[in-house]
Amino acid sequence: MSAAETAWWRDAVIYQVYPRSWADGDGDGIGDLPGITSRLPHLAALGVDAVWLSPFYTSPQHDAGYDVADYRDVDPLFGRLEDADALVARAHELGLRVVVDLVPNHTSDEHEWFQAALAAPPGSPERARYIFREGRGDDGSLPPNTLPPNNWQSMFGGTAWERVTEADGSPGQWYLHLFDVTQPDLDWTNPEVGDEMESVLRFWLDRGVDGFRIDVAHGLVKADGLPDGPDDFDATVHPTAWQPMFDQPGVHEVYRRWRRIADEYAATTGQDRLLCAEAWVLPVESLAKYVRPDELHQSFNFAFLMTPWIADELHEAIHEGLAAVAEVGAPQTWVLSNHDVVRHASRLGYPQLPGRLRIEGIGADDPQPDAELGLRRARAATALMLALPGSAYLYQGEELGLPEATQLPDDVRQDPTWERSGHTSRGRDGCRVPMPWTADGPAMGFGPGGTPWLPQPESYRALAVDQQDGVAGSTLELYRTLLRVRRERGLGLGGLRWLDSGPDALTFELTGDHTAPTVVLVNLGETAVPVPDGLVPLVASGPLDDDGRAVPTDTTVWLSPA
Ligand code: GLC
Ligand code: MG
Repeated sequence: MSAAETAWWRDAVIYQVYPRSWADGDGDGIGDLPGITSRLPHLAALGVDAVWLSPFYTSPQHDAGYDVADYRDVDPLFGRLEDADALVARAHELGLRVVVDLVPNHTSDEHEWFQAALAAPPGSPERARYIFREGRGDDGSLPPNTLPPNNWQSMFGGTAWERVTEADGSPGQWYLHLFDVTQPDLDWTNPEVGDEMESVLRFWLDRGVDGFRIDVAHGLVKADGLPDGPDDFDATVHPTAWQPMFDQPGVHEVYRRWRRIADEYAATTGQDRLLCAEAWVLPVESLAKYVRPDELHQSFNFAFLMTPWIADELHEAIHEGLAAVAEVGAPQTWVLSNHDVVRHASRLGYPQLPGRLRIEGIGADDPQPDAELGLRRARAATALMLALPGSAYLYQGEELGLPEATQLPDDVRQDPTWERSGHTSRGRDGCRVPMPWTADGPAMGFGPGGTPWLPQPESYRALAVDQQDGVAGSTLELYRTLLRVRRERGLGLGGLRWLDSGPDALTFELTGDHTAPTVVLVNLGETAVPVPDGLVPLVASGPLDDDGRAVPTDTTVWLSPA
């Protein structure tokens, strides 16, 4: 196989750590890098290939660190730069690669560039690193510059423009923020911005990180002239229609440049470096452009994440997902949960309706998911995902079957979405609650003391790592088994061939020179499906019936020829 065919990331399983919520080393109630380092053996024992860390850089934390004030340092909340080095070193010792988050679309308003832009006059080079514009008047009854420059909406609700006060105290220009008002968008048409981000990439590559997850990768370049979006346009959902701020052709130039940097490091160090896009782009053919041979290596397949638990919809999503990347010669990248979406153990606990499923944050007064059904389906969905050709991402806590925290009191919510939406959208705090490591002890073992920054639901206690470790049938042991068998049989590396199955089941065979022949059967129907003759179970997401010869509802089984 050629180097590109053997690169580690092609079939890697990558575990996402949300630093504030995984492990708290110093007992201040907020997770930190020393905490993470001390818990890395959990990941080695789980059997993943790499860890991806959400941002831990200097930040006022208005969007949990996705508002970066200094790209080259660690926020004191999480530790010091040496702690990041120690984390990378320890991970490497344990055979785990480390992927860090890069936030190139916007900085924090506390970034020195933005502070300089505020202090400088309109038209200055300092302002030219961001997207400052004059506002509009209305039909003439208002003075010029009183309305935002266009109709773009923030992803967190409200207008995407904020008006500044000029140095002389007069109301001034507006700046663009696709996210929170404290996250001004950079102007990627300004070469200074690209040069700075290249230098940030090199800074972390030089420190030994194995790759980057690229935040809002589809947003960097905006349509020329910043035209209005469609009237009914709502940036808080992810539509298929053209949008002036997303998926513009110019982004691909940025990624060609970054690919050259990654290739350069791979060549000089002999270690493949990974670039993975967070791009909420549909259809999958547009998304596949991000992983053309001279661009990024991976791009999360969010269409799969948003697919309801319905056999023919999943069949179509998997089929189209694989076909789209095959066109450009890249593997597919699967994911079911992350820090921005309702955990799949809860998402799948609702009635499943055709169409794209993306549930907004859940509050105590909303309809509640069926926890048992959700977990059963989540285990089946994960067993499906981990069998698919390509790479897969796991989100912290899903290996415990954690549900979304749906009963958080509104006054503890920290996601800016809740305030900016005028308390109409609960936001993403429910999937960000700190991990339960032990049933007893402070904060369920999250740290040596302190109050966790979000309260842990009582239901997390029974799901703590120490309650599942070594317990046959637990979700943690299921994940460990799936990951071990996946590795042993080379799943992820080969291809997929669909086999005949009833209308409510999926059956496929995994093929390839480096893959042991394996059949996967997912039963999404109400009645049990028999295991085809000549096949024996390797691992199943739940108990099988009839002495292992029948697959009950909402269960996935991996089978090998007898
Ligand atoms: C991405 C992140 C999300 C963040 C946003 C703005 O979507 O995953 O958490 O709020 O970008 O940086
Ligand atoms: Mg801490």
